[in-house]
Amino acid sequence: MGNATTEYASLESRLAPYGQQQALRFWDELNPEQRNHLRDQIESIDLDQLESLISGQDEEQDFESLAASASPPPAVRADGSGTSWTIEDARERGEQALRDGEVAAVIVAGGQGTRLGFDQPKGMFPIGPVSGRTLFHFFADLLIATGERYGAEVPLYVMTSDATDTQTREFFAENQNLGLSAEKIRIFRQGTMPAVDSQTGKLLLSEKDSLALSPDGHGGTVAALVKSGSLDDAKRCGVKYLAYIQVDNPLADLCDPVLIGHHVLSESEMTTQVVRKRYPMEKVGNVVLVDAKVRIIEYSDLPQPAAEATTADGELKLWAGNIAVHVIDVAFLDRMSQTPESLPFHRAHKKVPYIDESGAGVEPKQPNATKFERFIFDLLPSARNAFVVEARASESFAPVKNAEGAETDTASLARAAISDLHRRWLERAGAVVDEGVQVEINPRFSLSPADLDRKIFANLQIESDRYFDR
Ligand code: UD1
Repeated sequence: MGNATTEYASLESRLAPYGQQQALRFWDELNPEQRNHLRDQIESIDLDQLESLISGQDEEQDFESLAASASPPPAVRADGSGTSWTIEDARERGEQALRDGEVAAVIVAGGQGTRLGFDQPKGMFPIGPVSGRTLFHFFADLLIATGERYGAEVPLYVMTSDATDTQTREFFAENQNLGLSAEKIRIFRQGTMPAVDSQTGKLLLSEKDSLALSPDGHGGTVAALVKSGSLDDAKRCGVKYLAYIQVDNPLADLCDPVLIGHHVLSESEMTTQVVRKRYPMEKVGNVVLVDAKVRIIEYSDLPQPAAEATTADGELKLWAGNIAVHVIDVAFLDRMSQTPESLPFHRAHKKVPYIDESGAGVEPKQPNATKFERFIFDLLPSARNAFVVEARASESFAPVKNAEGAETDTASLARAAISDLHRRWLERAGAVVDEGVQVEINPRFSLSPADLDRKIFANLQIESDRYFDR
């Protein structure tokens, strides 16, 4: 028997017990390189796990009853109420952690801007209302300013996916790492999960030599931080806290000392920043307390009656909206990485292009496939003293998700939110900004509103669009 035949036999005997041999349907037509490609993909799948996901052993949640028993989570409100310490105490503690080099930043940037209609990694999307800086530049500038302020460079871990990895690496390389030190940046790729036919549970092929794979969700951050050596790197550098954000929110307070301070003072293993939901069915995850554990019920899973329930004073009962800004203890993440079942898989019914039995490409018009994803926030119920910190949406949340024309979460709305926030900073410092004028402040010019007082002349007149660069 030739090598190729042995190889076929070995792959077939691996797949057959799961009824997935169809993945080898075009084996005879593949050249050696293509065979290697397909073999590597098949070998990287945990077929036992996949089978249990397909057969639904990994039970679907009963969200109706979950939501019915949900109450608001323990939280410090934006005005500082809800804790025995003050916002100033939190700031001091967070600043100490930053000075001690105990904080690293994690940005998840695996998503493609499909909904946004942008065909490059989302981090490369230009968002600065005056400067045109990209999302990646926004966070790099913030980290540079933070590092300079506290005298300790903040390591940055950027998670990409198959779809965004190459372009993201090129972008950082071509832009001199956006001003960050090369040795403080690690770009690592998240894992994938195969998509299966929703009716039959069979693995789908996207090409004759390729399974239809998709990113394993931002919950894949845990495994990918370990696999890439980034978690070890963090431990080696004395990092205790990971400040986690999604790349799509230019107002995300990456490494905000107050948030980090609340996390440390509450002795929480995972702290999450939320905003007060504006309306019941807003498309944000709902941070709630169930059975004394903090958890997130995704907007798509929250039944309407639970979403609409109000308190005696007419406020939404489930008020806390997830903005995907978390602080996670390195020791906790390390522990969780050794218990992979701590993160369940969620199923999504999606349109996934594939090739049929004859090898012809099919572009489905209706959802045809099931994708499996893990969510990072599912770590919350396992965290000791999980804690919630309220931020004001006008200061911390302007996600870029949808193409222009949509009612929410567009780039224009995000640019307006950035400019409005910086206008308020300037006016607070005594400047007069003409109506209709766009303003933007690089954190390297002023990291906080208080910095501006020292930087600008009282009564500064701003009559046309202005970018305060470093
Ligand atoms: C997400 C949250 C939602 C929250 C909202 C805030 C989930 C399931 N829901 O919703 O609770 O209120 O953000 O903006 O996360 N990503 C990866 N790899 C992946 C999947 C996602 O890196 O495999 C990154 C994307 O680059 C993106 C972010 O995670 O920046 C969010 O993913 P997206 O699918 O856009 O989530 P939303 O539905 O907007």
